[in-house]
Amino acid sequence: MNRGFWSNLPRPVIGLSPMDGVSDAAFRAITERYGRPDILFTEFTAVEAIARGKTKVMEALITKPSSSPTVAQIFGTEVQSYYSSALAIAEMGFAGIDINMGCPAKNIQQRGAGAGLIRTPKLAQKIVRTVQKAMQDRADGITMEQAGVHPDVIGFVSWYRTRFGATPLEGVLPVSVKTRIGFDVPAVESWIPALLEVAPVNITLHGRTLKQMYTGMADWDEIAKAAEIVHASGSGITLLGNGDVQSRDDALERVATYKVDGVLIGRASFGNPWLFAGREPTPRERILVALEHTRTFMELTPEAHFLSMRKHLAWYCKGFPNAADFRLKFVRANSEEEVKNIAAEAMEMLAQGTHT
Ligand SMILES: Cc1cc2nc3c(=O)[nH]c(=O)nc-3n(C[C@H](O)[C@H](O)[C@H](O)COP(=O)(O)O)c2cc1C
Repeated sequence: MNRGFWSNLPRPVIGLSPMDGVSDAAFRAITERYGRPDILFTEFTAVEAIARGKTKVMEALITKPSSSPTVAQIFGTEVQSYYSSALAIAEMGFAGIDINMGCPAKNIQQRGAGAGLIRTPKLAQKIVRTVQKAMQDRADGITMEQAGVHPDVIGFVSWYRTRFGATPLEGVLPVSVKTRIGFDVPAVESWIPALLEVAPVNITLHGRTLKQMYTGMADWDEIAKAAEIVHASGSGITLLGNGDVQSRDDALERVATYKVDGVLIGRASFGNPWLFAGREPTPRERILVALEHTRTFMELTPEAHFLSMRKHLAWYCKGFPNAADFRLKFVRANSEEEVKNIAAEAMEMLAQGTHT
């Protein structure tokens, strides 16, 4: 099996989970800089929208040229849209393509996408095979035009490559899957073998069913069961566990206990890019990085609404006594200039030690 960059990853793998509305270009750039996760995933992106030339959705894929492998995540149900979208995305310089089979949002799973695919394993298999074929055809020389990629998307890819200096990788890009342990009840004994039949290079498993959404705790015993099935297959496929991992030490402990090849961490990384490095930042660092994050946001995605920056700023405000006051100020900020002023005030307070 050609595992692409996956075969060069350190073990265990500790990576940043894909998070819609959170893991945008700036968040990933900052997380990479201060945490150096082994792998990063983009927010999920709708293949149907890309197939119809709606390039706006492709802004979620913007990635600062990075040294850690970044994987583009896609979702949808239309097989042909997967083919052309995956082929176009591969031309943006990603290390791999990941297929979302875990999103529980009603508007997505009810039309059979995201975790909805757990209910239609035949379609899920067809989608994996299609994306694998797109990657093979691309390596064999098929062009975006020949693959029927929308002209606006071809234009976006070309703009993107110039703007960010992105170089597409040669060869067959690896295709992976991220999913959940089941639809309404855990079903790893049937769902994981169905995925293994089409050999994605990696399966990331969130230890909740779709029905659980984000409630309760992730079931790591089900994840361990899935890891055993994957390893027993002798296929070379890897399995990353996911759900409720709080720190680097917690990640290492779970790898040892549940025998997974690594973990992806999502929510614990909010406002905490240092988590992947296992380091606790000082209050001063938190403020300085909040400001740097804002600058990076403006540099990489100047067209994006500033609103989406605010939650990140709030998340940095913890671990010092007046944090709640500054959180309130940051969530009202409308520009880099305003963030700069609030950060200056916070730095002054910290320098004077008047925060007691
Ligand atoms: C705000 C938010 C957005 C998410 N978006 C995605 C997504 O786009 N693709 C995906 O596969 N999972 C998505 N997830 C799920 C996470 O990747 C992860 O599986 C889940 O949060 C459990 O891991 P954690 O406990 O470490 O956060 C999202 C989760 C959150 C909280």
